[in-house]
Amino acid sequence: MLTSMKRIGLLIGLVLTFVIAVSAQDVTQLDKIGSITSFEKSDNALTLHCSDNSTVRVSVLAADLIRVRTVFAKPLPDRDHSWAIAKTDWTTPRWNLKEANDAITVTTDEIEVVIHRNPLLIDFRDARSHALINEDEQPMSYDSKGSLSAMMFDPSAGMFIASSKKLGFDEHFYGLGEKAARLDKRRSSFVNWNSDTPGYTEGKDPIYQTIPFYLGLQRGVAYGIFFDNSYRSYFDFGHSSQRRAWFGAEGGELNYYFFYGPSIKKILGRYADLTGHMQLPPLWALGNQQSRWSYYPDTMIEDVVREYRTRDLPLDVVHLDIDYMNGYRVFTFNKQRFSDPKAFTDRLASQGVKVITIVDPGVKYQPQPNPERYSVFEQGIEQNFFQHRRNGNLFVPRVWPGESVFVDFTLPEARRWWGDLHRAYTDNGVSGIWNDMNEPSDFVDQTGKNQLDVISNDEGEKTSHAKNRNVFALLMARATYEGLERLKPNSRPYVITRAAYAGIQRYSTMWTGDTNSTWDSLALNIPMFASLGLSGEPFVGSDVGGFIGRANGELLVRSYQVSFLAPFCRNHKTNDGYDQEPWRFGSYYEDIIRKYLKLRYTLLPYLYTTLEEARSTGVPLFRPLVLNYPDDANTYNLDDEFMVGDDLLIAPILKPDLTRRLVYLPKGTWYDYWTNKKLTGGTMVNIDAPLETVPMFVRSGAVIPTGPSLNYVGEKKMDPMTFNIYPDEKGSANGTLYEDDGLTPAYKNGALRRTKFAVVRQAQGFSVSIAAAEGSYDPGARTFKFLIRSQDGPTREASVAGDGRAKSVEIK
Ligand code: GLC
Repeated sequence: MLTSMKRIGLLIGLVLTFVIAVSAQDVTQLDKIGSITSFEKSDNALTLHCSDNSTVRVSVLAADLIRVRTVFAKPLPDRDHSWAIAKTDWTTPRWNLKEANDAITVTTDEIEVVIHRNPLLIDFRDARSHALINEDEQPMSYDSKGSLSAMMFDPSAGMFIASSKKLGFDEHFYGLGEKAARLDKRRSSFVNWNSDTPGYTEGKDPIYQTIPFYLGLQRGVAYGIFFDNSYRSYFDFGHSSQRRAWFGAEGGELNYYFFYGPSIKKILGRYADLTGHMQLPPLWALGNQQSRWSYYPDTMIEDVVREYRTRDLPLDVVHLDIDYMNGYRVFTFNKQRFSDPKAFTDRLASQGVKVITIVDPGVKYQPQPNPERYSVFEQGIEQNFFQHRRNGNLFVPRVWPGESVFVDFTLPEARRWWGDLHRAYTDNGVSGIWNDMNEPSDFVDQTGKNQLDVISNDEGEKTSHAKNRNVFALLMARATYEGLERLKPNSRPYVITRAAYAGIQRYSTMWTGDTNSTWDSLALNIPMFASLGLSGEPFVGSDVGGFIGRANGELLVRSYQVSFLAPFCRNHKTNDGYDQEPWRFGSYYEDIIRKYLKLRYTLLPYLYTTLEEARSTGVPLFRPLVLNYPDDANTYNLDDEFMVGDDLLIAPILKPDLTRRLVYLPKGTWYDYWTNKKLTGGTMVNIDAPLETVPMFVRSGAVIPTGPSLNYVGEKKMDPMTFNIYPDEKGSANGTLYEDDGLTPAYKNGALRRTKFAVVRQAQGFSVSIAAAEGSYDPGARTFKFLIRSQDGPTREASVAGDGRAKSVEIK
């Protein structure tokens, strides 16, 4: 029998669950923005005044980029600031305005924005065909009466706001950054609130990052929406209702950017212009990396490196996890474990290995009197750089060092101070920084509730955690990146982060946090890396072998068969997990892993060329097939294949005991990478995949540049540079090779070399035209070797000096 108290409790619980389930999702209950009463036009915008005193500014930033900025029931504030935005100085394109009784239409060369006056509804159309791309399902809305506030995570955050769009019958949704979810997000919903979620599985939401940017694709036509609002935000792509795709937030402005493609690639380029292009990390960041929570003392890491070298396994980087520090005090070394950090990094450097240290945001709370001094804490207190609660008390969360404090990274002088503190690492030969726990994680309460009254300076506005939580990691990464730039102006900074907000790509690469050593976790790698790439974060990867739990040889091999072509390839394991370095399960598995790591290194010229493409165009290296084949509906929800650049297609095995699988190949001719056998696409093919073979295909028409076999970047001169030619049906192929010094920022000033190749079939053999190289970087003399790949060898080849001059080569 339930006691009556319990019964009442249960009833309240049920009612609450019902109310939350219904109301939190029900944007139809919100107040709708009023109709347009008047408007003004400026050089690049319309400002609309509405009957409920709301204000909407529709700005034309580019022919394919429109911004809609709405505040409800008041005028627009003067401050218009976002930590995500990199570009505000747009050159206004040609546009015009048409007024009619029922609507105002803004037209650029590419988009037509029809703004209906009453009710205020916005349609985005193709300017040429007038075809609808996206339209409001209901007027923009807000919760003026606070009827949803009981359902809000933080009722004090502000007012719930939302925009609802009509859901297309065949509309697919991509992006949204890091979600433990499939590629196509149609009929799902998500929350953004950076959260430390160890051991997450598919469906866990939110996890570490907030990238409120998504792509809609219908019949090959794509648009993008970036809802630049750092409050806890919600995205529902036809989950709660098949009528609508809506997004909203617990506060802030209804501020979104609308991008029109029609190609996804074009949108990603624009998104990178708006939120910043990734800068190139050092080339060795593409090398193989090994980590463990935690390798110590120094001699243990040297043992690991020795093992790599004696086993002929490539390695560029080792990571020092939290135990390198003195009692988890950031910017210190434990002198018992690392008596001479500089000598240690020097010894590794002489073997071609770089060291990365973890740096968490928690600064140990160590007030005086204390027998030990901790200058980082003392300086931060003295300069008032740490976060406080609304009542003025220092905010003291608990993280690895126990009681700790966090920096207010919204303060420019605090960011500068934090960045400069990295001298403790750079002076000791540390080559990169790993930012973790930056959601920010607090063991007192992982949901963030313990932090709700923490105030950040936020350019003097003194705003709440509700607004600042999701940008904390972005600003910490920024402080780190800018510090490294100042400390070592001649080296490209290399930062890795767990949490993020949009714009993170300007400062950091990322990994997907605390995964599991399970097949399900491995399978999530592909949609997660691909979605991150579709959200402006090209440099991604996951702990190879999985972080929590116990891998085995088969899982580890299959995990490398995904990650050997991910930008970030790092094996990492939790402190109490079973060891999983490549040799731990015996030589059978180790030999296969060696094969894939070696292959990664020979493919470095292709990977680096593709990474540079990501930098300049915003189009990621690791791609879902839909990115390259947006007109092919067979690619719209493919979660178990990916492409690297335009040319390589990989279809890994993601389940145990499987040695065959079906692979979808888009229309056209493909080469089996291992046999050079030609296959016809547009269908599923049944492919052998014994443990030593990951199904891998090359698009016909590709030229894949490869280099010598290496055990680390810079071990040997990239000579010869081999170009693997996969002629298409007409016998043609095209390719590019990008090169630079791999280390310094000189490429930003043109110290690069870009060489283009075009291959055509001749009466006898093939002819390769090499265009004159672009850029001022000189890689020195080397040989270019061209190989025609074909199943019926012998492989035809020819060589020529790769000296930057235009020339042509005959391959007989
Ligand atoms: C977090 C990180 C993990 C790291 C551990 C200890 O769980 O995600 O990678 O090993 O903290 O620093």
